[in-house]
Amino acid sequence: MRVVLGVGGGIAAYKAASLLRLFTESGHDVTVVPTDAATRFVGTATWEALSGHPVSNSVWDDVDKVNHVRLGHEADLVVVAPATADVLARAAAGLANDLLTGTLLMARGPVVMAPAMHTEMWQHAATRANVRTLRSRGVTVLEPASGRLTGSDSGPGRLPEPADILAAALAAAAPSGSGSLQGKRVTISAGGTREALDPVRFLGNRSSGKQGMALAEAALAQGAHVTLVLAHAEVAPPAGCDVVRVESALQLRDAVLGALPATDVLVMAAAVADFRPAEVTATKIKKNDDGTDPVITLVRNPDVLREAVLARDAGAQPLVIAGFAAETGDPSADPLTHARAKLARKGCDFLVLNVVGSDRVFGEDTNEVTILDADGGESPAVQGSKRAVADAVIAHAARLLSR
Ligand code: CTP
Repeated sequence: MRVVLGVGGGIAAYKAASLLRLFTESGHDVTVVPTDAATRFVGTATWEALSGHPVSNSVWDDVDKVNHVRLGHEADLVVVAPATADVLARAAAGLANDLLTGTLLMARGPVVMAPAMHTEMWQHAATRANVRTLRSRGVTVLEPASGRLTGSDSGPGRLPEPADILAAALAAAAPSGSGSLQGKRVTISAGGTREALDPVRFLGNRSSGKQGMALAEAALAQGAHVTLVLAHAEVAPPAGCDVVRVESALQLRDAVLGALPATDVLVMAAAVADFRPAEVTATKIKKNDDGTDPVITLVRNPDVLREAVLARDAGAQPLVIAGFAAETGDPSADPLTHARAKLARKGCDFLVLNVVGSDRVFGEDTNEVTILDADGGESPAVQGSKRAVADAVIAHAARLLSR
C-alpha cells in the first residue's frame, strides 16, 4: 500500500519514527511529509533514511513532480501522527499552506489522524469543533491516550501507541466488507458495577472499563455491529457502537440477557459485583448517637456469564461466549489452575486470563493475558496495549464463530 505519513510539530514526532518502521516492516511504501515545525523535532534525514524516500515539507521542492497534488492523489492511505491542534485546525479549515495540508486536500483514500497535544488544547472548544468537522467528513480521528505529557502535567493528549495507530490505520484502509466479523453482532459488557447502599453510597470496584472499550473498538474494526453494556467506566465508549448504560449487576444482567437473541458473540469483560447489599435504604444512612454502627448484609448477585451460557445451551443465541478472569493465585493454586476451574464452572467457550495484583492491570493502558479454550487449548501469552489484547480476543472469537 502507498502510505503518506504526515508528521505534525509536537514532541511526539519522535514516536512517528516507530510508526514508520511498523509500516515499512509490514511491507508498505511510505512517504513522510513533516510540517515545518516537525522538522525542528526530528530532522528530514531520519525520515529519509527510515522511509527510503526523499522528504520535503515544501510545495516549492521538485515543482516539476507537482508533489502537492501527486502525493495525496496516489496515496492509498494518509496517516497524520502526531496531529497537533494546529494541523487539525488547518485540515478542518481546508487550508493548503504546506505540503501536508495540500496532500490532505487531495487525498481520496482513507485519512487517519492521531492527535497529540496538551489536555487543555485537546479539550478546547475550537479543537473539539475541528475534530467534529473532520469526523463528519469521514476522517478517522483517534482518541488520544491519557498519561504523562511533555512537562509534569498529565491527562488525555498523549499520542496513542504506534502499534495501535497502525492497527487503526490498517482497519480504516481495509476494503469494507473484509472484516472477520462483518455482519456479525457482538455484545460486550464493560466497566465495573456499582451496588447501591443508600441514595448516595455504593459498593464499587476498580475496573476502569478500558479493556472493554478496546474490545468494542476491535470488534468495530472487524465490521461487527457492537452493543456495549456499560457499567461505570473512566473512559468514553468508542463512536459507532450502541451503548446501554447500567449501574448494578442486576441491571447489567437484564441488559445482557435482553441483548442475547440478537448476539452472535458475547464477551463479558465487565467487573460484575458478586454481592450486593441485602437492603438499599431509601434515605441516607446516618451515624447513630447511641454508639452502634451499621452492619451491611450482602446477598449473592446472579452470575450473568453463567446465565448466558445456560440460555445458549437451551438453544438461544449467542454462538460464542467469552469470559474474563482476573486471578491473583493463592496458596491453594496458581492463577492458571484457578482460571481452568473457573472456565469449567462457567461453561463458556473461552476465558481470558489476566494475572492481577493490587498494582497491576486496573486502570493501566497495557495488559497481559492468556486465552484458555474450553477444549483445553491455551494461547501463548498476549502482551501489549489493551487494544492489542482486544484484537487477539476478537480474532479468537471470530475464529470460533467461523468453525
Ligand atoms: N461475571 C458475571 N457475573 C458475576 C460475576 C462475574 O457474569 N456476578 C463474569 C465476569 O464478567 C467475567 C467472569 O464472570 O467474565 C469472571 O468473573 P470473576 O469475578 O473473576 O469470577 P467469579 O465467578 O466471581 O469467581 P471468583 O470470585 O471466585 O474469582
